[in-house]
Amino acid sequence: MKPIGPMMREHRLIERMLRQLGHELDAINTRHTTDPVFIETAVDFFRTYADRTHHGKEEEIYFRELARKDIAQDHHRIMEELIEEHVYARAEVGALLDANERYAQGNTEALQEVARRLTTLVGFYPGHIEKEDKHFFFPTQDYFSRSEQDSMLQEFQDFDAKMIHEKYENLIKQVEGTSAQVSA
Ligand SMILES: [Fe+2]
Ligand SMILES: [Fe+2]
Repeated sequence: MKPIGPMMREHRLIERMLRQLGHELDAINTRHTTDPVFIETAVDFFRTYADRTHHGKEEEIYFRELARKDIAQDHHRIMEELIEEHVYARAEVGALLDANERYAQGNTEALQEVARRLTTLVGFYPGHIEKEDKHFFFPTQDYFSRSEQDSMLQEFQDFDAKMIHEKYENLIKQVEGTSAQVSA
């Protein structure tokens, strides 16, 4: 397998979440209410899977290795755009979580912002994924030799193996922080 294989496979899972967000948007438009637990689950998916695990492999391994190569101006430009788009998506997901928390606390006006942020994510991600799948991964993989691709794939696997531990170590820190505040 080539390193672009796992990255493209991860795109398919992100698309499945985007479809669910689309259904939730329809539900918001018809029922004028949302399920804050679902939104929180979606935010966790975007933070842990789409951003940390998926964008993490793109930026910290694939883009890092590409930056060491003498790549075409065009490829360099797209890589910069992709990094900026990751920053944008991260901020949108953060704003969605904020709006969702306000909604869950009883601020019904925050529903509009939840819907707006969902609309943004559903509109944004397919173009980002298409840019990578169709215009970036295939042409740029040719900069790497077979053995470079093999070692990148291995690094992807090592990176993925850390993720579940990182997620739950962070969760414990969060819980410890919360209980420290409560007992103080
Ligand atoms: Fe990306
Ligand atoms: Fe991606």
